[in-house]
Formats: sequence, C-alpha cells, structure tokens
Amino acid sequence: MPAIFPRKDIDLGLMALSGRAGRWRAVSAESEVEMTDGRIRVDSFQGKTAVVTGGGTGMGRELCLQLVEAGCNVATCDIMLDNLKETERLCKKRAPNIKVSLHACDVAEEAAMLQFRDEVIAEHGETLHLLFNNAGIGGGGSFVIDEDRRAWEKTFAVCWYGVYFGCRAFMPNLVKADEAHIVNTSSVNGFWATVGPTVPHTSYCAAKFAVKGFSEALITDLRIHAPHVQVSIVMPGHIGTPIIINSGRVLGYPDALDMSSDDVRSVRERMMSSSGALSESAMNLSDDQIRAFLHQRRQDVLEKAPTTAKEAASVILDGVRNNRWRILVGDDAAAIDQRVRESPEHAYEPEFFENMTASGILDQLSRSLAL
Ligand SMILES: NC(=O)c1ccc[n+]([C@@H]2O[C@H](COP(=O)([O-])OP(=O)(O)OC[C@H]3O[C@@H](n4cnc5c(N)ncnc54)[C@H](O)[C@@H]3O)[C@@H](O)[C@H]2O)c1
Repeated sequence: MPAIFPRKDIDLGLMALSGRAGRWRAVSAESEVEMTDGRIRVDSFQGKTAVVTGGGTGMGRELCLQLVEAGCNVATCDIMLDNLKETERLCKKRAPNIKVSLHACDVAEEAAMLQFRDEVIAEHGETLHLLFNNAGIGGGGSFVIDEDRRAWEKTFAVCWYGVYFGCRAFMPNLVKADEAHIVNTSSVNGFWATVGPTVPHTSYCAAKFAVKGFSEALITDLRIHAPHVQVSIVMPGHIGTPIIINSGRVLGYPDALDMSSDDVRSVRERMMSSSGALSESAMNLSDDQIRAFLHQRRQDVLEKAPTTAKEAASVILDGVRNNRWRILVGDDAAAIDQRVRESPEHAYEPEFFENMTASGILDQLSRSLAL
C-alpha cells in the first residue's frame, strides 16, 4: 500500500533499511532507539520540539515544565491566556535557553487549530517530534434529560475534536521528523463510562472512549504508513488539577461561591440523590453552606488527589520514553483497569462501584467529582 504522506528527504548517509516492510527511515539521531520489532522510539527529548495543548494549568503545564527541563522546545496553546503566561514564566525559570512559544487556540475549532499549527511552524519550523493532545474539560452529564445541550456538545468538542483536529493538523509535521510520538489524553472514563451510579456522565465518557478507540486504531495505521511515528493513549485516574474549576469557566458556569439559588437547588438535589452522608447533610445545609461546601470540595479535588499533576506528567513522559502505547496514570487507574477487565458485565452495577470504594480504589473525592 502506498504511504499516505510523502517521505521526508533525508541525507542518504543517515539512512538504513528498516526491518519492517523494507521501508527506509533515519536511524542517525542519538536519541533514537531501535526496538526489537524494528520500530523507533523517542528515547530523549533533548533538542526536539513538542506541541502541548491545554498548557495553562494541570498536566499540560507540568508536561511543558518537564519537557523544557529535558531540553525540549515547546509550543503550547490554551484559551486561558493568563495561565499560559504563568506556564511560560515557570518554564523560563527552569530552562532559560529553551524556546517556549504561547498560542491562543480553542482546540474545539478546526480553523483555530490550523492557525495554531501555522504559528507553530513559523516559530519552530516544519518538523515536529511530539504532540500532546492534552486539553480537556468535564461536563455534559445527562443525555436523556438534555439538561444543557450546549455544555454536552462543548465538552465533546473539546475532548474529542480537540484530539482529532490536533492529529489532523500536525500529522504531516510529525511524519517529517526522523522519529515522532503522538500522545492523546483519554481517561479511565475512556474504558469505564461512569463516575458513580447516581451521576450521569455521558458526553465526557463518549469523547474519551472516542479518543481511546481512534488512538488504538492509529497504531496499525502508523505502523503501515509511518512506522517512525508512535502513538500513546494516556488514561489518568484522579489527578490533582483545577479541571473542575476550569471546566466551569469554559462552560460559562459561575464559581461555587457565586452560584444563584437555582443553581444551589439543583446541586442540593444531586447531593440528596447520592448515597450516604452527602445525602443527609444536603438536607440540613443552608444555601451558603452548600456554596462553601462545593467550593471546598473543588479545592480538595485539586489539593488532595492521590496523584499530583507533576507525578502524572512524569509517568506520561516515562511512558513515551519507553514507547508504551497504553499509559495508565495512578494506582487508581491501574486498579480500575484490572477490575473492569476482570468483570466487564458488572462494571455498571452499583455494587461494582461500591466495592471499588470499599477497597479504597476510589476515594470519597473521586465519588463527588461531578457535583
Ligand atoms: N484531573 C483528572 O483527574 C483527569 C483524569 C482523567 C483525565 N484527565 C484529562 O487530562 C487532561 C488534562 O486535564 P487536567 O486535569 O490537567 O485539567 P486542567 O483544567 O488543569 O487542564 C486542562 C487545560 O486545558 C485548557 N482548555 C480547556 N478547554 C480548552 C480549549 N477548548 N482549547 C484549549 N485549551 C483548553 C484549560 O484551560 C486547561 O489549561 C484533560 O484531557 C482531562 O480530561 C484529567
């Protein structure tokens, strides 16, 4: 089958015949390692160029920081530009001589992604080595009662189209490199479509399953048409980031402390439909106490998670160095993966979730992420 992409012009002195399908590919760069199956993996980030979407906070920011520390130039985008500037400041502090470029881009819009791509090429050149499709938001709970269709579709667009448009836009530039790696962020919700038996979570899960399915299918496509480009799927468990706060802002929801009485009422109803202590306390709290409770809970999701964003980024980059296509982040993610594989038929039964909580795999914070 013909290659989809024209092969890069490479100095013949740098080329060797690949063991797979008789393809020519470069093996000259010091950072390349040839694996037993003939594919190449990115062994070092030194001197490379990475694109990171959603670099303003959380795992995206930590990826930028650890990449520049490893000598990798970074182009990062976000819609929250103040956060992006702080990422740049931190990067410059850690690695003053490494190039970092900032770009305003809503990854859910293809035209914005193409503009981002053009800006990246203008700043860093046509050859890119790493693409982290990391930007994401949570939202869009119920499909059945269609509580907020705009939020449903925005969540799906950021989490799925953000990855899809990123791959579409940057694929030719990755193929130009001697070796390259695409890293698409899914979630444990990319293989287990729930955050609990009382909380619908349809848009985010649909998007994260799509990211996982697309990325897994890319493995074969790339092996046939561009074997020097690898792809990994990142599946984090609960990571300490401001994702809930940021998602609310992207979707136009007020901060917890500024919620209207109507908003508080619907949170109270959701709390009352959940099980245990949360349900009981919902009945006795005043509106202001519910606002304060929610505010604190969102802070706790950031500050008391079992895995920090820094740890998560380090697991992701190790996964890339070791060319692992499935990167589970956190002990919770590994345990959920195992349980769902052991017992897929029961994965959506309330007892399955309760057992997971009872055995400490899910913390109380994870249980209330969707509130
Ligand atoms: N935090 C977790 O527990 C967790 C778990 C599983 C998966 N994830 C996934 O990890 C990825 C990173 O999330 P995080 O937890 O670091 O959250 P985060 O909110 O700290 O980071 C996401 C970044 O994406 C940006 N962003 C949001 N919408 C955007 C858009 N339309 N265009 C460009 N940028 C946009 C945000 O401003 C933010 O800077 C997301 O894809 C998320 O779904 C997170």
